[in-house]
Amino acid sequence: MYVCICRAVTESEVRGCIAAGACTVKDVVTRSEAGTGCGSCVGKIVALLSAPADELPSPLWRTA
Ligand code: FES
Repeated sequence: MYVCICRAVTESEVRGCIAAGACTVKDVVTRSEAGTGCGSCVGKIVALLSAPADELPSPLWRTA
């Protein structure tokens, strides 16, 4: 599932960035380029950074 449509970055890629040590949106953006287009995915990145993987429904943004 894509987190960032503009840069074709998937949820698993963002999770991989987090697992590799990314702890801020800027870290994820730097590592993956997610969020460097329209910016509408930044909230999804924040949510992925904010909760442990096993506590997140997937896909996160469809639960609202
Ligand atoms: S959807 Fe991520 S920058 Fe547009």
